[in-house]
Amino acid sequence: MFFVIREAHLKQSIPGGSEAHDARNAPSQRIVVSSLSCVQVSLILRSRCRLLADYWTRFSPYYLLKPGTPASFFHFPHSSFPLAMKPRLGLPSDLEAVTDVIIKTMPMDPQWDYRFPYRLQYPEDHYKYTKMLFQYFLDPAFDDWVVMVVEDSLEPGSELSVVSFGVWDVSYINKRLYGPGYKTQDPVTEVEEHGGKTRRDANHKHFCEFWQGQIRAYKRFFGHIGPEKIHLQILATLPEFQRRGHATSLCQWAMEVLRRDCLQIMSVMASPMGYDLYTWLGFDLVATFNIQVPGEEEKITLQAMQYVPKVWTVKIVPGIEAGCGIM
Ligand SMILES: CC(C)(COP(=O)(O)OP(=O)(O)OC[C@H]1O[C@@H](n2cnc3c(N)ncnc32)[C@H](O)[C@@H]1OP(=O)(O)O)[C@@H](O)C(=O)NCCC(=O)NCCS
Repeated sequence: MFFVIREAHLKQSIPGGSEAHDARNAPSQRIVVSSLSCVQVSLILRSRCRLLADYWTRFSPYYLLKPGTPASFFHFPHSSFPLAMKPRLGLPSDLEAVTDVIIKTMPMDPQWDYRFPYRLQYPEDHYKYTKMLFQYFLDPAFDDWVVMVVEDSLEPGSELSVVSFGVWDVSYINKRLYGPGYKTQDPVTEVEEHGGKTRRDANHKHFCEFWQGQIRAYKRFFGHIGPEKIHLQILATLPEFQRRGHATSLCQWAMEVLRRDCLQIMSVMASPMGYDLYTWLGFDLVATFNIQVPGEEEKITLQAMQYVPKVWTVKIVPGIEAGCGIM
C-alpha cells in the first residue's frame, strides 16, 4: 500500500512528465519531496537493521542450534505487537509445553477424534507418542521442519509460557542445497518405527488414511508448484488464549519468510476452525477433499488452501533505482 501511494506521488514529480505544472500541483510536489526523504531515510534504516539482524543470526543461540536456518527466520513483521505475542523459534526445551498445548487443543479439531478415539482410555500412550512426534519437529537435526511458538500469560505481568505454536515444512531450504534428489525427513514415519505402530490411543486405519490422504492431496493440489513453497502442518492455540491474534502472528511470521525467501506459496490442509482463520488472513480455497477409509461411512473433510504473496512494483524518479518484490 505504501509503495502504491509513493508511486502515485513520485510519478507526478518526473520533470516534464506532466505538462500541467501549475499552481495546483505545488502541494503534491511538497509531498513528493517529503516522500523522497522518507524513502531515503527508510532505506538507510533498513540497511542498518539488516546488518544488526545478520549479526544476531550469526551469533544467536538459535543459529548455533540450527546452523542452516536462513536469516529470514529471524525477522518478525509486527513490531507493534507486545513482546509476548512475537513468535520465536521453538527449541527442544519447549517440548513439554508444546506437547501440553497440542493435547489440550487438538480435540477441538474433528480429525483428532477420528485418529485418536481411544486417547482417554490410554492417556499415557497418547502423551508418549504425541511428545515423540514433537521431539522430532523440535530437533535441530530435523531441519526440514520448523516450530515457531508464542508465549503469553492470562494475568499481565505473570510468568509467560507457550500458548500457541505452528509447525512448518521448510524442506525448500534443503532442496535448494542438495537438489532434486534430496530425500525429505518424515517424523511421522519415525514415530511409527519407534513404537507408534502399536500405540493404543489410535485407530490405525484412520491414522494411516489421514496421513496418506494428506500426502495424496498435497501432491495433487500443490505438487505442480515445485519445491519453492512452505506447508503449514499444524497450528494450535490453547483454548483460553484463542482470539488474541496468536495464530495470526505465527502465520504472519511465515508470510514474512515467503516474502524474504521469494517463495511461491504457503499451503495448508485446513480444519473447520482453521478455515475461518486462513480465510481471514487472505488464503484462497483450492479444493475441498475427504479423508475416508474405503468401505467406511465415517469421514472428515479438509480444505486445501494456499496463500500467495502479492507482487508489487514501484517506479521511482530517474536517478533512483526502481524496485520490485513480493509482499
Ligand atoms: C484455529 C486456531 C489455531 C486459531 O487460533 P487463534 O490464536 O485463536 O487465532 P487468532 O486469534 O489469530 O484469530 C484471528 C482471526 O481469525 C478468525 N478466527 C480464528 N478462530 C476463529 C473461529 N474459531 N471462528 C471464527 N473465526 C475465527 C477471526 O477472524 C479472528 O479474528 P477476531 O478474533 O478478531 O475475530 C485455534 O482456534 C485452534 O487452535 N483451533 C483448534 C486446532 C485447529 O483446528 N487448528 C487449525 C489446524 S488447520
